Amino acid sequence: MQRQSESKGVQMWFDFMGWVDERFPATETFEYHMSKYYAPKNFNFWYFFGVLSIVVLVLQLLTGIWLTMNYVPSEAGAFASVEYIMRDVSYGWLLRYMHSTGASFFFIVVYLHMFRGLMYGSYRKPRELLWIIGMAIFIALMAEGFFGYVLPWGNMSLWAAQVIVSLAGAIPYIGPDLMEWVRGDFLMSEITLNRFFALHVIAVPLVLVILVFVHLVALHHVGSNNPDGIEIKKNKGPDGIPVDGIAFHPYYTVHDLHAIVVFLFLFCVVVFYFPDGGGYFLEKPNFEMANPLKTPELIVPVWYYTPFYAMLRAATYPLFGMDAKFWGLVVMAGAIVLPAVLPWLDRSPVKSIRYKGMISKVMLGLFVVSFVILGYLGSIHPSKNATLLAQICTVVYFAYFVLMPWYTRAEKTKPEPERVTT
Ligand code: HEM
Repeated sequence: MQRQSESKGVQMWFDFMGWVDERFPATETFEYHMSKYYAPKNFNFWYFFGVLSIVVLVLQLLTGIWLTMNYVPSEAGAFASVEYIMRDVSYGWLLRYMHSTGASFFFIVVYLHMFRGLMYGSYRKPRELLWIIGMAIFIALMAEGFFGYVLPWGNMSLWAAQVIVSLAGAIPYIGPDLMEWVRGDFLMSEITLNRFFALHVIAVPLVLVILVFVHLVALHHVGSNNPDGIEIKKNKGPDGIPVDGIAFHPYYTVHDLHAIVVFLFLFCVVVFYFPDGGGYFLEKPNFEMANPLKTPELIVPVWYYTPFYAMLRAATYPLFGMDAKFWGLVVMAGAIVLPAVLPWLDRSPVKSIRYKGMISKVMLGLFVVSFVILGYLGSIHPSKNATLLAQICTVVYFAYFVLMPWYTRAEKTKPEPERVTT
């Protein structure tokens, strides 16, 4: 009796899907992207961060929508509305802490996701466009974080935005006008807050969602790379399926679910017990309302921008008639966009760090160490020694990219395996 009603239910489902498929390619799309998308079977820990980035993106969009329901984008109302969300709105504190912690976690997972790309040469042919789309996501994410940070209209919101916007002033000729155009006013004001609100809640999230969609379309067109850096599509069985591939669904969907659970557990620990991340996720001056007459003792951006901020501050010499601030801007912008050209800098015959030579390994290690040190230096008071160290780390950061065409060709590599290693 039960079996009969079950098979009736299954039949109804098939009939329904048949009806849908005649009008919309639902099954075809599911098969192409999930059940018949063959991913390399040797994915490791580093391959969790793409899906985790999607999880955080969804979390940010959802918590953001609910925060917007009670947030007031005005000079008088912004700070008070955030207080109201924290104290009076049911579970408002949870929504707010999830969103602010989510911003930091977004950058943690995206930085690890990008590092994986560096390790396994995921930016190399045929994934150049996929990588460039990723870089566009990264830049959009930086903009999104910046606009969001201004919204609570705390004292650091005001002053950090003031510093960042005034950077535009360092651009010759158009700088001062550009600065005014960005702010919409002579000083940071409600007009600036309003436009940053519009950019934060709709314009940039829309761009981000579109870019992530395009990122995944590009990924599924070329197929995933893997820790061995070999193309599984080159070795197909008689059925046309890569011999080293397994269906993304159900194998990787279930596999990724484990990572999502562990990730959400860690996320909850931070949200419930360390929501300000020791002053790194929510900075102390931001618990005070914006005050143009009170400069915070130390103006620094949130941790995920500090490596680039340290590079900005590392430029201390005027050159070719341009002041140090201009060169700081050039160095910072260069550091952000330079990874986009990686596909054309890496000349190694192999993709993965597993088979590259010693110089590539040392350079990648130095790159990571210098990035972390810069992150620290960007979060403290500048001093003579700190500036010198920041200058050295900036040189190392750039050397990783600029010297890559040389060291990837000069070093001895190991032969790649024929099949993926598990
Ligand atoms: C919102 C941010 C992002 C989301 C949601 C996202 C999502 C994903 C997903 C789901 C995958 C497949 C799973 C995986 O390989 O981990 C992937 C792969 C990839 N992503 Fe992203 N990504 C984001 C940002 C970035 C950034 C900033 C870059 C680099 C600049 C990047 C570069 C790549 C590359 C090269 C691959 C292929 C990796 C391989 O096959 O080895 N992504 N991304």
